[in-house]
Amino acid sequence: MTTAPETVGRPAAPAPTVPGTPVADPVVVTDRLTKRYGRRTVVDALSLGVRRGEVFGFLGPNGAGKTTTLRMLLGLVRPTSGSATVLGRPAGASVAEVGALVEGPGLYPFLSGRDNLRVLARYAGVGTARVDAVLDTVDLADRAGDRFGTYSLGMKQRLGIAAALLKDPALVVLDEPTNGLDPAGISEVRGLLRRLAGEGRTVVLSSHLLGEVEHLCDRVAVVASGRLLVESTVDDLRGLGRLVVDARPLDTAAAVARRLLGPDRVSVVDGALHLQTSPGETAAVNRALVLADVDVTGLRQEARTLEEVFLQLTDGDAGPPPDPAPARRTRTRRGER
Ligand SMILES: Nc1ncnc2c1ncn2[C@@H]1O[C@H](COP(=O)(O)OP(=O)(O)OP(=O)(O)O)[C@@H](O)[C@H]1O
Ligand SMILES: [Mg+2]
Repeated sequence: MTTAPETVGRPAAPAPTVPGTPVADPVVVTDRLTKRYGRRTVVDALSLGVRRGEVFGFLGPNGAGKTTTLRMLLGLVRPTSGSATVLGRPAGASVAEVGALVEGPGLYPFLSGRDNLRVLARYAGVGTARVDAVLDTVDLADRAGDRFGTYSLGMKQRLGIAAALLKDPALVVLDEPTNGLDPAGISEVRGLLRRLAGEGRTVVLSSHLLGEVEHLCDRVAVVASGRLLVESTVDDLRGLGRLVVDARPLDTAAAVARRLLGPDRVSVVDGALHLQTSPGETAAVNRALVLADVDVTGLRQEARTLEEVFLQLTDGDAGPPPDPAPARRTRTRRGER
């Protein structure tokens, strides 16, 4: 990334991975992965990497392109351009080692949980030997004889995950595994996915609710309108805070801040400057203001919830393509600039 000499750059914390940068021991690598339907670009030059043994969250609002991306990773949708490598091979070529729950698993309501898995195992050509083991893994062994139609939503979801585990996969890809679950159901799925990662499997999941997965994922990619906004650890994402500065004259202070941080990260709210910064940038902001003869009377870092960070990153993202470093771009809420 290039920045003008007087800028301090984008917040360092939330964007440790430059698009296309190789990650250690990658299980999934996408390189400018793009999908267009007609004239609409639904996945836009997405470059990211998933490490072995991590739970990776793919987060974004409805229509962000999450399912389309997961389907490209599974070889179910052909990219328009760019590439995806899964377990060292082109997407789709490693299907025997990838367990997925992307569309509903197509389970029969009148068959028991166990019989559903037997049908799926035969269909997938993996034999039924692992059926009882995966029922155990998802904690459904004692309800395995009951009809699927009588299961709670959380149990249905866990049986779907069990189906994805029949192949004993190195990589598990799950589309919205916590969707529609109550807190107890989310907690069950969270425990299950953590156990899978503990067994050395890699888990890639999507969600449109950060709060549902923030305690589950090691790292997340936030996407909106098909574009990567941030790829980061959850902790680093949380660290992206707001610096509130009381300064006079305000106009001069705002001009200095805009020059230092770029206009997107500066807004004036209720007579104070609101700056999107990481904690490490506070001193540089203060120094620049003082050097410009601005009186700084207050300088405080406000922590935000992850939900706020997520909303800020994803809100109002229907605009034109961003600068050439989309993964490092942070956005302000519409109307705050
Ligand atoms: N086969 C298709 N033909 C045309 N457009 C499609 C097709 N599949 C997906 N799209 C469009 O691509 C965009 C992204 O869809 P996608 O299902 O990938 O989003 P998503 O992030 O999974 O959303 P959600 O959170 O609602 O599941 C949407 O605008 C959708 O209408
Ligand atoms: Mg989807």
